[in-house]
Amino acid sequence: MKIFSSPTELQSHIVNLKKQGKSVAFVPTMGNLHQGHLSLVELAKQKADIVVCSIFVNPTQFGPNEDFDSYPRTLEQDTKKLEQVGNQILFTPTNNDIYPQGKEVHSSVEVNRLTDKLCGASRPGHFRGVTTIVNILFNIVQPDVAIFGKKDYQQYLVIRAMVKDLMMPIKIIGAEIAREPNGLAMSSRNGFLAEQEKKQSSYLREVILLSQKQLEDPKKDINEVKLQACKLLQNKGFKVDYFEIVERNTLELATSNDNELLIAAAAWLGKPRLIDNLEVNLN
Ligand code: PAJ
Repeated sequence: MKIFSSPTELQSHIVNLKKQGKSVAFVPTMGNLHQGHLSLVELAKQKADIVVCSIFVNPTQFGPNEDFDSYPRTLEQDTKKLEQVGNQILFTPTNNDIYPQGKEVHSSVEVNRLTDKLCGASRPGHFRGVTTIVNILFNIVQPDVAIFGKKDYQQYLVIRAMVKDLMMPIKIIGAEIAREPNGLAMSSRNGFLAEQEKKQSSYLREVILLSQKQLEDPKKDINEVKLQACKLLQNKGFKVDYFEIVERNTLELATSNDNELLIAAAAWLGKPRLIDNLEVNLN
């Protein structure tokens, strides 16, 4: 596996590969890789000749009171895992490589829809940070295809909107959520769960599945379903940030006329804030 930290060196390496007619698939990450990330690399391998994975804990997408400093950084193990799954190029820039003038004065990219809801409402500025870094990375890596996990469903939609609005010639593919045996969506933040919380954590998925069943009942009241879910989570020790049932293309609150729904939840369990979601199709 080739490892680059310099944006310009990677950029010219990719230009050469493209001249040879190679296609490029890209998997951006913040590292501390788990099976969810690796499944994205596996999918990327099926989509192009060359797979590039980036590891960069992007400061501009963390709020002032969030976990940027304590975010797990495990580059050595990550490198081994990427070698094992056959990733070809790893990009590991430093803050200075990406934001040489300082992140405060750096130009930014903002998507003007989809970003004020769900995680965007509770993490102001988060998606501006995400779209800015993904844009920078896209310009360096010049991918034909980029893979994003549906675990961060809103992020996946926001990136799709950015690529469409700014007419970037990149195909965005959404990958299914990889889960722990107990159903918890894999996340780099799961390592912050205490032993007891690890057991309780399965409840987030269980409540989402219960809500799905309730939504399938034609007599359901969407607000009732949400309220009940919040109560169940609170009773199990979760501090609910949001539990929403939305139309899954617009992320607007679902009405009884909508068929393509998304149940999306974010809740703290002890230290980490866990997120999860489920696509629901009503007939
Ligand atoms: P990170 O949280 O490291 O996630 C990198 C990619 O892995 C994202 O597309 C995310 O949705 C996906 N992913 C994480 N857990 C997953 C799981 N359990 N199943 C499937 N996919 C999963 O998301 C980011 O980093 C950053 O915001 C980034 C896009 C890299 C920009 O900084």
